[in-house]
Amino acid sequence: MTPEEPAVLFTEETIRRRVAEMARRISSDYADVEDLLLVGILRGCFIFLADLSRLLTVPRSVDFIAVSSYGKSTTSSGAVRLVMDLRTEIAGKHVLIVDDIVDTGYTLQYLMDALKPRKPASLKTCVFLRKPERFRMDWQIDYVGFDIPDAWVVGYGLDHADRYRTLPYIGIVKT
Ligand code: IMP
Ligand code: MG
Repeated sequence: MTPEEPAVLFTEETIRRRVAEMARRISSDYADVEDLLLVGILRGCFIFLADLSRLLTVPRSVDFIAVSSYGKSTTSSGAVRLVMDLRTEIAGKHVLIVDDIVDTGYTLQYLMDALKPRKPASLKTCVFLRKPERFRMDWQIDYVGFDIPDAWVVGYGLDHADRYRTLPYIGIVKT
């Protein structure tokens, strides 16, 4: 059986343009910062972070952190677990957490709580996609690429049970 092609939500060109806009905005916001650290949440972040980080015009370094995922389910359990920590000391650094998508916000909340006690100079969040209907937190994401409806999306790093991650566009799958 051949898998169904996801329906296109954002084309490669739309993604490219929006990532460039985000990079300009972040570069301007961090213009006076000498030690911006981009913290990518594995694995979903890897393509967005690769594109975004190369377009920034400020000095930056990159590290990764991994948290437990939903596995094959598409609903958040709210239970997040750290499975790989940073290699970098973040005390005194300007940290920007980067993820592919925010759904309920539990993952980002968990990471903010885990990283804040390490005393970064600042701690902000950046995601390419957000599902506003599903977001449960009482704080806001600092940088958002696009708001999307409550659907399961894949491509550009996002997977469904580990498939479709390397699709060049963002598409909606039926679940
Ligand atoms: P949250 O903790 O509920 O905000 O979930 C965030 C994580 O769930 C993201 O980092 C993704 O790994 C995953 N996720 C949520 N929605 C989607 C989706 O539509 N497609 C792929 N992954 C998703
Ligand atoms: Mg993720």
